[in-house]
Amino acid sequence: MKRKLLSALLSTALAASLLAGCAAPAATSAPAADAAPAAEAEAEAPADDAAAEAEAPAGGAGGKVGVSMPTKDLQRWNQDGDNMKTQLEAAGYEVDLQYASNDVQTQLSQIENMISSGCNVLAIAAIEGSSLGEALDMAKDAGIPVIAYDRLLMDSDAVSYYATFDNYMVGTVQGQYIVDTLDLENAEGPFNLEITAGDPGDNNAGYFFNGAYDVLKPYIDSGKLVVVSGQNTFEQCATPTWATETAQSRAENILSSYYADGTNVDVWLCSNDSTALGVENALAANYNGTYPIITGQDCDIENVKNMIAGKQSMSVFKDTRTLASQVVKMVGQILNGEEVDVNDTETYNNNVITVPSYLCEPVFADVNNYKELLIDSGYYTEDQLK
Ligand code: GAL
Repeated sequence: MKRKLLSALLSTALAASLLAGCAAPAATSAPAADAAPAAEAEAEAPADDAAAEAEAPAGGAGGKVGVSMPTKDLQRWNQDGDNMKTQLEAAGYEVDLQYASNDVQTQLSQIENMISSGCNVLAIAAIEGSSLGEALDMAKDAGIPVIAYDRLLMDSDAVSYYATFDNYMVGTVQGQYIVDTLDLENAEGPFNLEITAGDPGDNNAGYFFNGAYDVLKPYIDSGKLVVVSGQNTFEQCATPTWATETAQSRAENILSSYYADGTNVDVWLCSNDSTALGVENALAANYNGTYPIITGQDCDIENVKNMIAGKQSMSVFKDTRTLASQVVKMVGQILNGEEVDVNDTETYNNNVITVPSYLCEPVFADVNNYKELLIDSGYYTEDQLK
């Protein structure tokens, strides 16, 4: 019943927007699906559908963009949402920005409302990449292109593009930082390593883990790096919803089980800053050995403060302004019926299609370069980091 009601709403919205001259844009068919088939049967890229005949809004100006963010609980998504709204409005678009409090059903209904309210393009940072199929189908039925924002949308051919930072490189940057800082090529070792990974529902988290593990694996295999807890698979190290509290309690368990006898932990690989914060909280309360190298990602304010205070070694910097401006550019190209900028058409298969993607390049911040990277660039003010 709901689906019938919604499709009635959709066709009304579509008819209304056609009349209003802000027609649902031509559904951009993504570049031809890759020659290299993924393991799973690969559907064709989004087929032309009825809406594909519809004209794109002239010049893009006046188009309406739905921006769906997962939560306000983690700092970076607030920045992403603000950047997207500011930059889209500056480009002449109406913006419907919604945050879903990390609740999948909320995100689903918010996206459905964006569709029925006549959005011409959707940019979605999914809470769980495989949970939005119903809304993606509705977007496709309405001829509304979807850009997966930072997190790949899975199991659907209704995703037109993906814009993110190179997620595997985020991991290799963390891994290489550990190799360089411990001088693993030359040092005797062994060094004790623990790992805290990200949310198993977030497709990015596997890339972060694999990127770092691929760099560190030769040293683990040779015994120069030792995972004392033995927890060295993504599943064993994962942190649902990236929650700081969850990372903290797992780290407390590891410290009390394997390090209470005075054993030192030399390095703790954390996939992002919210989980690194949990590990740092656990170390502060439960550990008196030599302080480990700790990695992170996102350069959250609390973590940069910890970096300055010597409680975190580095954080991968993904300038949310850069990602937002790339997505705004793609929105304009879609609405203007232009070719859309992508620089990777092979990596991101979502179990149905290989999604044409634009990957921004991540770098890392540490105590030596954070001023230039974060303050001189205007990302933060000095006061914010005091
Ligand atoms: C990931 C994102 C990272 C990380 C995490 C927590 O998908 O790419 O920046 O912070 O979510 O939001």
